[in-house]
Parts: sequence; structure tokens; C-alpha cells
Amino acid sequence: MKKVVLAYSGGLDTSVCVRWLTDKGYTVIAVIADIGQKVDFAKLRERAISAGAKEIYVADLKKRFVEEFILPTLKAEGVYQGYYLATALSRPLIAQKVVEIAYREKAEYLAHGCTGKGNDQVRFELSWKLLSPQLKVIAPVREWEFKSRDEEMEYAREKGLDLNLERLTYSIDENLWGVSIECGELEDAGKKPPADAWQITHLESRRDPVRLKIEFDQGIPVALDEKRMEAGEIIVRLNEIGKEYAIGRKDLIEDRVVGIKSRELYEAPSAEILYIAHHSLETLVFDKDTLDFKHLVSLKYGELVYKGLWFSPLRGFLDRFVEATQKKVSGEVEIELHPQVCQVIGRKSRYSLYDRDLATYGQGSKFESRWAEGFIKILSMGLRKID
Ligand code: ARG
Repeated sequence: MKKVVLAYSGGLDTSVCVRWLTDKGYTVIAVIADIGQKVDFAKLRERAISAGAKEIYVADLKKRFVEEFILPTLKAEGVYQGYYLATALSRPLIAQKVVEIAYREKAEYLAHGCTGKGNDQVRFELSWKLLSPQLKVIAPVREWEFKSRDEEMEYAREKGLDLNLERLTYSIDENLWGVSIECGELEDAGKKPPADAWQITHLESRRDPVRLKIEFDQGIPVALDEKRMEAGEIIVRLNEIGKEYAIGRKDLIEDRVVGIKSRELYEAPSAEILYIAHHSLETLVFDKDTLDFKHLVSLKYGELVYKGLWFSPLRGFLDRFVEATQKKVSGEVEIELHPQVCQVIGRKSRYSLYDRDLATYGQGSKFESRWAEGFIKILSMGLRKID
């Protein structure tokens, strides 16, 4: 019997994939990744079984997600067209887990339930090609005969699958780094998103501001309001607080890898707060050239993650550069949250390059104003003829 390991999310597509692959003569092993999405894993397990999966793995990948994927990206400040990459970052991790299980189960096939129009197929398959090129890939959604969700539902009914799926208005992808929302009414890019499109954040304009203190050690968040916590706990906590202020809400048009522009909503309170805090610390401790160069690195890093190139050599090289810069990204940042605003109100570091005695406009500055005269003269020399 041919064995296939499928990245199973529990939605309609992957559930129909299980049945479709079984009908084609495969033994299906479903892998469910727990990366902090709020779902009932017992229910997903049952759904996979009812669809025909022979074996189900529920893998708790939260710690690995934080340590091996989120933190390196936060240190790099990787971002793609304003998007903090929650979905994009989870794919290489799930791909890696699927390969691990394929080895354990001695399967020769890997499968995902992504469509031919999206980025996720690229992320899974590039990861698989780089990790384990000898395993063969099946992408049922790209191949099968169903042309719409309704046709998939019809097939599921015919086959007697008890999917018990709520009729969903949007396509939602969630993990602990953020939520991505698309489809339905959101496809009209000219129209304001309906209020029910936002899944975790609330917007209440009359909320009192709240102050938070975040401590970083070498680029990693290590304490919140002076309490030491694991980075994963800080992320969960900041999501809880930030969602009440609708922090990290974005309504973006993005360029997909496959050349399509799409409209997507994002909610990522924790990512927004941590990126802002992390960056403010970098502005304090980096010299200007490092700061400018690191900006280029964030753009490239974000692009690699978005395009599914997590396991590429360049991402590894960039990590080494970023790691070297983070030695000094230690200190404390104070933040004030207002509805939809995350404001830095103070920052401190023992590596600070900010020198009050130089910067002050008050008495006793170390900076001698007369130095400026010669400096400006020299600067102007290449621009005009000297008399
Ligand atoms: N556009 C995002 C990305 O490519 C999210 C894709 C999944 N979105 C969704 N609503 N299911 O990473």
C-alpha cells in the first residue's frame, strides 16, 4: 500500500483530501500541527478519522515555533509589505514535521491541501524539496475535479463524511503569531471590512491607556512588567492585552508569489508590539550604518520567509549576521497602548549610544558648537569652488 503523510488542518479542503487520497488507494497519515491556533484538537482528530485517515499525529509545535521561527524573524525584523508573516512562518515548520513523520512511518509521499493560486503550496513544496527531495509530493486540490467549495461539500456528503463544518464566511489561518483573514466580502478591495471579519481584536475607542515594560536580552523578549517569562508566554500575554486595543490590525494588498495581488486582513497584536519595541531598542544601541544596513536585511529576510525560502542558504547566512548584531540589543522599552496605537514612551540599555551630554540643548554640553563651522565648510567643499 502507498503511504502518504498529509499536513492536515481540519478544514474542508484537507478533509476532502484525506478521502480523495484514500479513494485513490493511499494509506493516509494525517499530521495536525498545534501552533497556538484556538481549535478543538480532539474534534479535528475525529474529523480526520471519519474522513478515512489511518493514523493521526497531533504535534505540539508551539515551543519550536517560537524558538526556531518567530524569534529569529523578530530579531531580523523580517516583514513583507507590512505583514508580520504569521502564516508564512508556520509552513516550513509544519513541512519539517511532516517529513519527520514520513521517515518514521516509512512513507514515500507527502501531501498538502493548498490551492494552486496561493503561497502556501510554494512554501510546503520548496521546504520539502530542500529538506527531502526524494519524497514525492501530491497536491490533490490542484489536481482534483471539484471546482468550488460546494462541489467539495457535495462529494463529502456523497461519501458520507461527517465533517460537521460550520459554514464559514472567511478563510482564516491562525497561530500564536497572528491571524490571517481573506475571502468572502473582503474580496472587494474597495470596501471597508465588515466588523465581524476581525477575529481576535476589539476596537473600543474609549479605553484607558495601559503601560507595559518589555525587557530584551540579546534581541529576545525575556520579561514583561519586570516579571521574567519565556518568550512564548510574553507573546501570549501581549496578544491578550493588545487585542483589547486592536493593536496590529492591518488591511493590506499584497503581492503573492504567484503574481496575484490579494487583499488580506491581519491581526497580530503581539508581533506589532514586539517589533516596535525591538526596533526602538535597536535605534538606541546601533550606529547609523548598522541600523541602515539591517533595514535592508529585514526586507530580504521577510521576502525569503514569504516566498517559502526558509531553508535556503541565504536565510541561514542572514541569521548569522543578525545574531552578531543582537549582542547589544539588551535593555528595556516602555510602551503605552491606546486604541490602535502602540507608542514607545521610553527606552534604556547599558549599550545605549545616546549621550545626553552631547544631545542636550541645556547647559554643560560636551559638544562644542564651534566645531560645526569647519565641519560644514568641509562638507560643502566638493559642491562648490572654494574662494
Ligand atoms: N497571505 C498570507 C500569506 O500568504 C496568508 C495566507 C493564508 N490566509 C488565509 N486567510 N487562509 O502568508
